[in-house]
Amino acid sequence: MANEIFGFIGCGNMGGALATAVARVVGGENILLANRTPEKAAELAKALGGRTCDNAQAARESDFLFLGVKPHMMAGMLAGIRPVLADRTRPCVLVSMAAGLTVATVRDMAGVDFPVVRINPNTPSAVGKGLVMLCAEGIENDDPRMQVLRRAMAGAGLLDDVDERLMDAGSAVAGCGPAFAALMLEALADGGVACGLPRAKAQMYAAQMMLGTAALALETGRHPGALKDAVCSPGGTTIQGVRALEKGGFRSAAFEAVIAAYEATLRLAKK
Ligand SMILES: NC(=O)c1ccc[n+]([C@@H]2O[C@H](COP(=O)([O-])OP(=O)(O)OC[C@H]3O[C@@H](n4cnc5c(N)ncnc54)[C@H](OP(=O)(O)O)[C@@H]3O)[C@@H](O)[C@H]2O)c1
Repeated sequence: MANEIFGFIGCGNMGGALATAVARVVGGENILLANRTPEKAAELAKALGGRTCDNAQAARESDFLFLGVKPHMMAGMLAGIRPVLADRTRPCVLVSMAAGLTVATVRDMAGVDFPVVRINPNTPSAVGKGLVMLCAEGIENDDPRMQVLRRAMAGAGLLDDVDERLMDAGSAVAGCGPAFAALMLEALADGGVACGLPRAKAQMYAAQMMLGTAALALETGRHPGALKDAVCSPGGTTIQGVRALEKGGFRSAAFEAVIAAYEATLRLAKK
């Protein structure tokens, strides 16, 4: 890969996870890290072999500038680097990961007519098993810069192009989903502990089971209902567990969780 510079402003949970994923592909020497609390960027730079800098330097030197601050901080952060961006002779590609902020909003806040790629990653990106939704404006799909960006981000997991109007819905499933899945993972492990399994084993069994079930769904393309039926023998044990989940409103709770997260994202966008 050529020596494009990938800058990150905001090295928190998601910015840090993506920087880690990108560094795996492009090498730490091509990573610039800026964070409000500089110690956080320094620690990450040490782990990745990257360089730390301030926001202005990241804005000046990056070919791809990842914006990893919280959505409500985006306007203030971008206002600070506006003059540097405006002074650039060659535009960089702005890569926003902010939930609920449209491409148009981010471009407005940045005050420059640069290409903007909006991505919606999730935390499993840190271990290369993420789902990253992506939509771009001001740059064609076959632009070499898009290809470089896609290759760099492949270290985060699966990239999926999506129409921007579907991004918030996708985020409620895949972006917020790791919290929902982790809640289930923890609860299953608690059940195992209640039945006498040591905690570490219970947690490992639950996690590997979820990983395997997800792989089964993705690799076979079978409907989740069919995967469930395949485990439920007539008069058997699993169907009794399914009964308990239905009684507890599990399916409805998961359904409502996605809608609640989606509605919260829409409210965020209006602020
Ligand atoms: N977490 C997820 O699962 C997820 C999923 C999809 C999208 N996202 C998006 O990812 C973005 C970051 O979320 P997060 O969960 O990673 O939040 P986070 O852990 O709070 O990270 C935000 C980082 O931005 C830094 N920061 C704040 N203002 C700054 C400024 N002016 N200049 C430089 N750095 C600044 C903070 O520094 P300090 O160290 O000083 O606090 C912090 O390290 C958000 O826009 C969110 O919508 C997150």
